[in-house]
Amino acid sequence: MTERGPLYLTTPIYYVNDVPHVGHAYTTIAADVLTRARRLAGREAFLLTGTDEHGQNIERIAREKGIPEQQHCDEISGRFRQLWKSLDIEFDDFIRTTEDRHKRGALRLWGALVKAKTPDGQAAVFRGKYAGWYCPRCEGFKDEDELKQPGNLCPDHERACEWTEEENFFFRLSAYAAWLREEIESDRIRIDPIGRKNEVLAVIRGGLQDFSVSRARVKWGIPIPEQPDHVIYVWFDALSNYITALGFADEDARYRKYWAGAGERFHLIGKDIIRFHCLYWPALLHAAGVPVPTRFFAQGWITKNGKKLSKTTGNVIDPVKLVLDYGPDAVRYFLLREGVYGQDWDFTDASFVTRFNADLANDLGNLVSRALTMVVRYCDGKIPARPALPEDGAAGFEVRFQTDAAPDDASGMRGRVLQRYESLDFSGALAEVWSWVSHLNQRIVTMAPWEMARDGARKAELDAFLYRLLEGVRLIASLVSPVLPRAASRTLTMLGLGVTLPSLADLEWGKLVPGTPLGTIEPLFPRLEKSDAGAMGSRPSKKKEKPLSESAPPGSSFPAAAPAPIPAAVGDKIDISDFAKIELRVAQVLEAEKIAGSKKLLRLQVDLGDEKRQVVAGIAEAYAPEALVGRKVVLVANLKPAKLMGVESNGMVLAASIDGRAVLCTFDAEVAPGTKVK
Ligand code: MSP
Repeated sequence: MTERGPLYLTTPIYYVNDVPHVGHAYTTIAADVLTRARRLAGREAFLLTGTDEHGQNIERIAREKGIPEQQHCDEISGRFRQLWKSLDIEFDDFIRTTEDRHKRGALRLWGALVKAKTPDGQAAVFRGKYAGWYCPRCEGFKDEDELKQPGNLCPDHERACEWTEEENFFFRLSAYAAWLREEIESDRIRIDPIGRKNEVLAVIRGGLQDFSVSRARVKWGIPIPEQPDHVIYVWFDALSNYITALGFADEDARYRKYWAGAGERFHLIGKDIIRFHCLYWPALLHAAGVPVPTRFFAQGWITKNGKKLSKTTGNVIDPVKLVLDYGPDAVRYFLLREGVYGQDWDFTDASFVTRFNADLANDLGNLVSRALTMVVRYCDGKIPARPALPEDGAAGFEVRFQTDAAPDDASGMRGRVLQRYESLDFSGALAEVWSWVSHLNQRIVTMAPWEMARDGARKAELDAFLYRLLEGVRLIASLVSPVLPRAASRTLTMLGLGVTLPSLADLEWGKLVPGTPLGTIEPLFPRLEKSDAGAMGSRPSKKKEKPLSESAPPGSSFPAAAPAPIPAAVGDKIDISDFAKIELRVAQVLEAEKIAGSKKLLRLQVDLGDEKRQVVAGIAEAYAPEALVGRKVVLVANLKPAKLMGVESNGMVLAASIDGRAVLCTFDAEVAPGTKVK
């Protein structure tokens, strides 16, 4: 942690050829956690994400959907932005390559390159012939190794590709091989993990080819001034986002601060896009006289049950569904805890449930609730007296936390955790914190505070123990806040603290003020049932529900957000992502009957398109059962099951109430059962 100037951190900008994927969520969560950890360590950071929207694939998809390209891009880009909001990603900017600021910036970079000379005095950009296998259906060139043999077939269309040549502009990458090698070997451009660095160096040693930076046949892109029927090659276009977002077009103050003046220009990427990022991008910038990135980290691949994630085989993990079902904290925690960042790892539903229950519900959740409940019981719900320091022997939390050491001194827990975040060892940082969670849980058992409470003479001892325990909880919540922002902020609120976004100053022992009343205590992570390990994230949307926290809002299976640091609600307004948690669907009533012993309740069997459900509705006083059969109603489809008069209800029928009399919501045109209502 010695660099000067702010951290400028980016994720790849994601293709809008499809909806977000768990791999996209993985990179973006890691980027958010690193940014938050930097801020927690008292350093400045800026996080950029966005969407990559040009190219022939987008042209084709929009054509197939029969809508303009821009409309398609708006739709999918919105899905990414929405997912990031629901995952509590605090990005500072979101760039789209169809924005004007991007196009102007990309053209400025293009202009600089067209004028640039290589170290040996040649034009950095030149006209040349691009030759390759062209698929008329894709309207694009395919790499030779992508083709299906025999017959040189396009992998997407199974149609023969034609050998075609076109005049393009090329970038003289070969002239920058020696420079790239030196920058990478010396770590001035640092590539992690080390295996990836070696891979890049091996590519350089194998010889770098000049590459084409314009395309003649693609229309959905940024036309170049030299030849307006050409557009900028989609990778050149996409990579330039990292500077265009900061206002490169006009050298804005933001660009000067976060790119030119950054302590680190750091790109998080996946292992699939290393060559573009670690070779093309620095060379393009260097040739144009623009500062180059200082650091790359390439993450590994998530597989599911040992297999590649693929829509065609149905082996998918839907991040939107995961967040809806388990909440943002659990998803953030699992993705970063389960695998080692930088390596490949396998996602299994069972391990998600195990980690949720063992780590979040049992270890952390129980520690917080036991500590707070004892304070309610034995200290009148107020922070007890602060004991003197140093005390409590080597086992004492405050001693080992070592707040007297500097935050980046790894001899204390605080320094170790912050350093692990810093080196993107997220699972290591969490393991470190969890060793303290276990330590404190054990201390509760060995110290038996309930026995101290029985003996009036031990009151001071009890107070000292509980104060230390609460401080432990507070420091743990603070250190884990980059990964679990909601749980951390809820814990700090329960501790009666006004500040719920911890800062470096909060990572000191003894900040709790004796006499402060605790906030309302509620469970952090209610346990999941074993049966919840079914087709997670990939299950169809109509499903049995998760157990809920008593404090959970209707339609959500995870506890409500704390008021800060991520306000899900502003005043009494909710964010669109909160509304998106409620799954509303058209249901057609198949059968209806009164429930014996109840004046108000009807048992309905409804058709939800591909599923039948039993629902109990309190509309018997307004509707005769036989009048309901065949009617289409609106159903809240993702409510947890509830029993009413002993009858299970899987959802809720929407109705207005006029003087206590139910009036059903209906439709003024024909709609199919199962249709989503938004
Ligand atoms: N648009 C380009 C990037 C341009 S950046 C200038 C692109 N987009 S992408 O939508 O395909 O996203 C790629 C990134 O998503 C990967 O680099 C990786 O970070 C992440 N992942 C996609 N699938 C993944 C897994 N199965 N596992 C882990 N991460 C993966 O490439």
